[in-house]
Amino acid sequence: MTKLLASPLSSLLLAVAFISVITVVRSCSPTDQTALNAFKSSLSEPNLGIFNTWSENTDCCKGWYGISCDPDSGRVTDISLRGESEDAIFQKAGRSGYMSGSIDPAVCGLSALTSFVLADWKGISGEIPPCVTSLASLRILDLAGNRITGEIPTDIGKLTKLGVLNLAENRMSGEIPSSLTSLSELKHLELTENGISGEIPADFGSLKMLSRALLGRNELTGSLPESMSGMDRLADLDLSRNHIEGPIPEWVGNMKVLSLLNLDCNSLTGTIPGSLLSNSGYGVLNLSRNALEGSIPDVFGSTTYFVALDLSHNNLAGRIPDSLSSAKFVGHLDISNNKLCGPIPTGSPFDHLEATSFSANECLCGGPLMKAC
Ligand SMILES: *[C@@H]1O[C@H](CO)[C@@H](O)[C@H](O)[C@H]1NC(C)=O
Repeated sequence: MTKLLASPLSSLLLAVAFISVITVVRSCSPTDQTALNAFKSSLSEPNLGIFNTWSENTDCCKGWYGISCDPDSGRVTDISLRGESEDAIFQKAGRSGYMSGSIDPAVCGLSALTSFVLADWKGISGEIPPCVTSLASLRILDLAGNRITGEIPTDIGKLTKLGVLNLAENRMSGEIPSSLTSLSELKHLELTENGISGEIPADFGSLKMLSRALLGRNELTGSLPESMSGMDRLADLDLSRNHIEGPIPEWVGNMKVLSLLNLDCNSLTGTIPGSLLSNSGYGVLNLSRNALEGSIPDVFGSTTYFVALDLSHNNLAGRIPDSLSSAKFVGHLDISNNKLCGPIPTGSPFDHLEATSFSANECLCGGPLMKAC
């Protein structure tokens, strides 16, 4: 063996084999490199010079900012470009990023892509190329914080491995495509601050893995679909600043892990279901600026725990329930701008609250208000 290795010819062969293995392992797939070059040429990033690291005659898997490859295949697996970052390149420039241009459909040629993040660049416009739905390995699609227009691709449901879809803070329009509810792996859905209209799909509850649905600041209409009652992993639901109407369904209060519910600034009517306020798992419940009526259900107890409970700007009438004073903790309470009447109860949750929490009601008295009962 030693003799064999020592022979000049076999050493040479070994060396060649070794070098070619290294090369095969590390080099960027030529088709991926071509796709990235086309992707880059549709974008302009004037402040930081991140695309200077993407030089044509270097290997895209080595030192291209924001690019990661599979070491075995040399296929590009990640594009990770965020305009707000702590990276050295940002620190050195002392500013956050700005990028303009659009997303070139050439990106769809990166068929091994698992993560496509092009977020918080403020200036990227144009539409999402519909062909992104052919990126079958995609787990993360994050294009938040740009000026992207157009609609969510109709066949987004083809991305069966998608876990994160974040298109927040863009200028997207159209409806939530019906195929979206077949994304069985989806955990985070963020569409906040766009112009998305239409109703929440009736089978939204098929998104069994979903833990965050942030859909606030859109133009959504209709009511909460009943299928959502079975979403056992949904922890954060933000539908604030839409046009959701009808009564708040009783089942919302029975959702297993829901801990943030923002329904503020909608057109909700009817009374507040007792289940919603007796549920001890809510951190934040904001029902402000709707048309809710009736009295505040008298269902609070020693397990009641709210970081923030905002029921302001509704038509709630009657007295503040005495049971609220037995709550374990209420950090922030706002019941101002309603039609409440009677004395403000005493007790721990009320001790630290200011008059603004109770202002502009019909005839509340006592507590921090300058009005004796
Ligand atoms: C509740 O929503 C209203 C209206 O959108 C907002 O002004 C208020 O700050 C929110 N309350 C809390 C506690 O976040």
